[in-house]
Amino acid sequence: MSAMRKTINELLSDYKKVLHHDITVQGWVRAFRSNRFIALNDGSTINNLQIVVDFEKFDENILKNISTASSLNIVGEVVESQGAGQNIEIIAKKIQILGDNFTEERDKTILQPKKHSLEVLREQAHLRFRTNLFGAVFRVRSAISFAIHQFFNQNQFFYMNTPIITGADAEGAGEMFGVTNFDLNNIPRDENGDIDFEQDFFGKKTNLTVSGQLNVETSMMGLGRVYTFGPTFRAENSNTTRHLAEFWMVEPEVAFNNLEDNIDLAEDFLKYVIGYVLENCKDDLEFLDKRFAEEQKQKPEKDRASEGLIEKLENVIKKRFKRVSYTEAIEILKNSKENKKGKFQFPIEDWGADLQSEHERYLVEKHFESPVVLFDYPKEIKAFYMKLNEDGKTVAAMDVLFPGIGEIIGGSQREERYDVLSEKMKTMNVDAHELWWYLDTRKFGSVPHAGFGLGLERLVLFVTGMTNIRDVIPFPRTPKNAEF
Ligand code: 4AD
Ligand code: MG
Repeated sequence: MSAMRKTINELLSDYKKVLHHDITVQGWVRAFRSNRFIALNDGSTINNLQIVVDFEKFDENILKNISTASSLNIVGEVVESQGAGQNIEIIAKKIQILGDNFTEERDKTILQPKKHSLEVLREQAHLRFRTNLFGAVFRVRSAISFAIHQFFNQNQFFYMNTPIITGADAEGAGEMFGVTNFDLNNIPRDENGDIDFEQDFFGKKTNLTVSGQLNVETSMMGLGRVYTFGPTFRAENSNTTRHLAEFWMVEPEVAFNNLEDNIDLAEDFLKYVIGYVLENCKDDLEFLDKRFAEEQKQKPEKDRASEGLIEKLENVIKKRFKRVSYTEAIEILKNSKENKKGKFQFPIEDWGADLQSEHERYLVEKHFESPVVLFDYPKEIKAFYMKLNEDGKTVAAMDVLFPGIGEIIGGSQREERYDVLSEKMKTMNVDAHELWWYLDTRKFGSVPHAGFGLGLERLVLFVTGMTNIRDVIPFPRTPKNAEF
């Protein structure tokens, strides 16, 4: 019979059961020291398993071909470890090389035991999963996704899958990637010379979705509490450390919720997910916490974070987020030293100004030193579907701003009144003809309701302490970049 096969995580966390048994483990070599000690990693945990090799018992040719990155199948006995730093090790009985390294590419590989810049690793996206850092980041990302589903499941939400191909522009911002299967060298035109989308696959103009909101709103009108969690696409040409052309968004939508309920939900939700990671990703977070501290040391003192990574996460779940109206925020910004001394790239002069990330970060990092929820924005700077407040000039919008990130969540109470909504669509040039079905939801038992969207990658950035959004999605899509 073959020996029990275990992941390294299973072995290390529950080793008493397997002590003195033979087991099979498989993984990649992280290091091979003194022809005797192999540090093996299989991706299940950041921790390596030590394999002890008695070189006299093995063919020299096998040992010669074991090097960093090669993959192995090992059968051996689990024993208590002699060395410090681990409870157990494996005394190898059989070693089989599953994949060795192309010798001529050995010095090209990023897997050499030295530090590589994140930029270099980004160009080797197929190999970066093998590093401690990206292993930790993507295990945490996976845990976050799981916690998101768990939170909604525990709160009686239904998971709705919303379409990726759509005719709608949910944000009314026009930042969409078109979807067509026209021959681009021979695009059919109508008698006016316009592109004739009737001849295209769907018989109309379609695009990749920028948000599943209109579809979750539609299903909410029957199912009550729903959420969607999927990829969304934005053709905005912003080459920043916070923007992707393809990112994952979580969007709950709740019947009978008002703006305040919506803010409560967003706060509970973020705290639950961060708490889950603190509880369930200890080893990875400790690694990321150390790395974060190292990074801070490299910075000039004035730019250093005031808290460690884990400390920051613990504090976020302890404190109640600050809730501030847009109008109050503008007053704070207008009267700030930064504004008076001309330090903002976009000076704040009047009520109505759109907030830039420098303003958001000032509020969160300097003024309040806490996550901040801004609400009741001027209607002109927000999307058409937001509920018009009684003052006639603001809408029931809310943005959650996080330290180091800026906007992490955007949401609102929705305009449920048919006439107000259709009027707004007209003035904001939203295609009511295309969105007839959305408007229709306001005709048959319309209800007050609210929802929001969380950018998954922005939350992963916050939790892992990484600084570039390209480093928290397995295969980033950004302007001029769709490799892998
Ligand atoms: O604020 P946004 O544009 O809101 C919506 O799309 C609403 N329909 C959501 C809703 O109410 N259901 O986007 C929501 C969040 C932002 O707060 C941000 O975290 C993230 O999505 N986001 C991006 N993340 C990465 N790259 C981009 N280009 C992003 N654009 C928005
Ligand atoms: Mg937004």
